[in-house]
Amino acid sequence: MTAATARAHPNIALVKYWGKRDEQLMLPAAGSLSLTLDAFATTTTVELSGEERDAFTLNGAAATEGQTERVTAFLELVRQWAGASEHAAVRSTNLAPTGAGLASSASGFAALALAASAAYGLELEPRDLSRLARRGSGSACRSIVPELAIWHAGIDDASSFAEPIAGPAMAMVIVTIDGSTKAVSSREAMRRTIATSPYYPGWVSSTERTLAEMAAACGAGDFTRIGELTEVSALRMHASIQAAEPPLRYLRAASVAVFDAAEQMRTEGLEAYATADAGPNVVLVCRPEDAAAVAARVEGLGQVRVVGAGPGAALVEEPVEPVEPAPDAGVPA
Ligand code: PMV
Repeated sequence: MTAATARAHPNIALVKYWGKRDEQLMLPAAGSLSLTLDAFATTTTVELSGEERDAFTLNGAAATEGQTERVTAFLELVRQWAGASEHAAVRSTNLAPTGAGLASSASGFAALALAASAAYGLELEPRDLSRLARRGSGSACRSIVPELAIWHAGIDDASSFAEPIAGPAMAMVIVTIDGSTKAVSSREAMRRTIATSPYYPGWVSSTERTLAEMAAACGAGDFTRIGELTEVSALRMHASIQAAEPPLRYLRAASVAVFDAAEQMRTEGLEAYATADAGPNVVLVCRPEDAAAVAARVEGLGQVRVVGAGPGAALVEEPVEPVEPAPDAGVPA
């Protein structure tokens, strides 16, 4: 095969990943657990090109230099695995509306890992595909997996991958407060937290315990415990980030208002639990049958969207077509 197309979706962590113990291999300091979503898909076509260099277009336009470098570095790794040297054209479309505040690196590198490995003729087991995606962006290893995914921290490259874990049905209510790109990338912010936050060691050791408890709660189908642990993990991650120097603070007043709303809902018997990644937007975890009621309660606190559990990365038959250059009106036919 010389061309392949794959689709993947973002995931939201219930037990967060924050900090690497090996930046080169992208090995996390602790394990994590997430839900792959059924919305905001990334579709990516990788076509071997025989050109001098790799090319990358995103939503029909040439990607930035930084984005292209990251994709090229990832393709280098795939070529190493495949024993190949040919360059490729990569074309991606991303359905996360600009301003949704959903990081696209997880769906992006999950789709790229699958499309590129297929285009270069690698037939990878799900576990190895997850390991490959991890090298693009840590959280991408979880987007290979459908629905609930547990990412084992592992002890080396071979043992750090995500796999499915059974649990109860859940929905998420995404409250977008601000969709602008974050000022400090998660990679940089992780480095700063590791280097300067006195709470970082506590974050790592407590996360191993949280993850074990979360896995047990998933196995028992205990939604309430899953929700409680979700908030604990998010707030501990933000506490360790906020204790960095200079401090990093992603949560805004409007974000805290959504955490308050979740607390209020619970006092009234409506179970919703809040989490937030490296940005101001908040995601509420709830039972699918409560999603509409939860969404109604946060209407007005941000842009609200209900999502469910979604599929893992998959090959698809609809390639992302190259965009024809616009006809130059100045040149006669
Ligand atoms: O894999 P990255 O660099 O996108 O880091 C993801 C970090 C968080 O989204 C904040 C937490 C997580 O586990 O997804």
